[in-house]
Amino acid sequence: MTIAIVGGTGPEGSGLALRWARAGEIIIIGSRDAQRAADTAVKLAEKIGGKSSRVSGAENKAACAGAEVVVLTVPFEAQAETLKHIKPALRPGQILVDTTVPLAASVGGKPTRTLGVWQGSAAQQAAELVPEGVAVVAAFHNLAADLLQLDGPVDCDVIVCSDDKEAGKRVRDLARKIPGVRALDGGKLENARIVEQITAVLIGLNIRHKGHSGLRITGLPAEAYEK
Ligand SMILES: NC(=O)c1ccc[n+]([C@@H]2O[C@H](COP(=O)([O-])OP(=O)(O)OC[C@H]3O[C@@H](n4cnc5c(N)ncnc54)[C@H](OP(=O)(O)O)[C@@H]3O)[C@@H](O)[C@H]2O)c1
Repeated sequence: MTIAIVGGTGPEGSGLALRWARAGEIIIIGSRDAQRAADTAVKLAEKIGGKSSRVSGAENKAACAGAEVVVLTVPFEAQAETLKHIKPALRPGQILVDTTVPLAASVGGKPTRTLGVWQGSAAQQAAELVPEGVAVVAAFHNLAADLLQLDGPVDCDVIVCSDDKEAGKRVRDLARKIPGVRALDGGKLENARIVEQITAVLIGLNIRHKGHSGLRITGLPAEAYEK
């Protein structure tokens, strides 16, 4: 699978890239600056060694053109602008994975608070901005970049929300390629409003207790983590 990571020069995008490249996926790091993307790709390739040819870099729009899955990892203040920029490169059949948390820090507020988004969530805002036929899937909001950048399995579940059942399943399968992740069907895209908010609580826990908190859902049958 070819995965473009828009804003992949940041900690969240490069962390996902690192994990998926190690799992054998082909990664294109996207950036506003093609050189910055290429530099990040080189650093990731050095980290993963033998599978280095699987990571390259490109300007954001160019990165999206040949990808089956486009993962958006830019801060909330850049989400709408970035989606408008890449829209001409998106085509029906692609999946757009939105990781955006609408933190109040985007407008100078606290990272432990969120902003109200008219559409209900950042993911629903993304759904309004992609071309028809592009499936939007909300995921990875609760998976901290700090955990992705560490070696070894991450201690976190990933709740995946989408109105497109097939796209949601493909993203859950992708999430499961990250060691330690259990992926769950979180229902429709509208549920992203709750999943996004949880991140602000996790950030508060990290600040108070100086840790890297993650989320585990318990009490479900084993098959829930395989669907
Ligand atoms: N960090 C985490 O632990 C974490 C966890 C879960 C979800 N998330 C979500 O994942 C997203 C990325 O998080 P992050 O911490 O990696 O963010 P970040 O470091 O602030 O930004 C990621 C990348 O976005 C691009 N960017 C920054 N400002 C921009 C702007 N004004 N316009 C266009 N592009 C801009 C930059 O790439 P270029 O300069 O190379 O273009 C930057 O490297 C956020 O929406 C966040 O809520 C983060």
